[in-house]
Amino acid sequence: MKNTSGTRTKADSDWERRKAQLRRGPLPRHVAIIMDGNGRWAQQRGLPRLAGHRAGLESIRHVVNACAELGIEVLTLYAFSTENWKRPAEEVQGLMDLLVEYVDRELDNLAGNGIRVRIIGHPEELPPRVQEALERVRERTAGGDRLQLVVALNYGGRREIVDACRRFCRDVCEGRADVELDEHRFAAYLDTAGLPDPDLLIRPSGELRLSNFLLWQAAYAEFWFTPVLWPDFRPVHLAEALADYQRRRRRFGGLDAADGG
Ligand code: FPP
Repeated sequence: MKNTSGTRTKADSDWERRKAQLRRGPLPRHVAIIMDGNGRWAQQRGLPRLAGHRAGLESIRHVVNACAELGIEVLTLYAFSTENWKRPAEEVQGLMDLLVEYVDRELDNLAGNGIRVRIIGHPEELPPRVQEALERVRERTAGGDRLQLVVALNYGGRREIVDACRRFCRDVCEGRADVELDEHRFAAYLDTAGLPDPDLLIRPSGELRLSNFLLWQAAYAEFWFTPVLWPDFRPVHLAEALADYQRRRRRFGGLDAADGG
């Protein structure tokens, strides 16, 4: 990764070193991030909340590129929840504008870096200009095979589960599915069908909640929290989270081999 002038900084060489270290251990296939703290970041600087969201776009760019460089398969970002409509209309409208701006600005970077964008949630309820931008990015990045960037938009975990139940019931009623259901078959009805479950879930800004994010999929995710606000989040923080992940022992309810498992 290079800065905008194309020269290598100390942060760049630190990142190269961290990357090489991280590659020696097991990396998560799927990292999910609740991008939080934009409002507080702006408030601390006496700026409008939207300035925090705008600064958050820069963090997205860094983290997406870092995940692609590391060979992580899936990165899911929580960009707009079903509950975020409760915010003032001006902030909601500003977030929608930022989404379109992000797509227009990042299209070449995403497509050029082999990043495929997938949307989960209910994008069909977003303003038409946002839906058009999402269609553009989906089309342009469809061939990407390096990193899958999943953006949760107008997404809520409970709604996703209810939607999945509805789809399943409809399939049973119309003879397309057998009433016998198991976890594996149910997961295929979720928005995340076909994706591995998140191995590592990161929430910046010091909040220790799941906030209706990937409720089903995060059943065995490792959680990593940091007080750093999202607009300040950089690959060095991702590297800290990944190094911590590599020290964890994931047992999925069983035992380690050394303990007789
Ligand atoms: C939470 O911070 C952040 C959001 C609700 C929006 C995140 C969206 C972006 C970074 C930009 C658009 C996204 C994409 C993918 C282009 P907060 O406002 O709740 O912060 P606070 O808790 O400090 O108030």
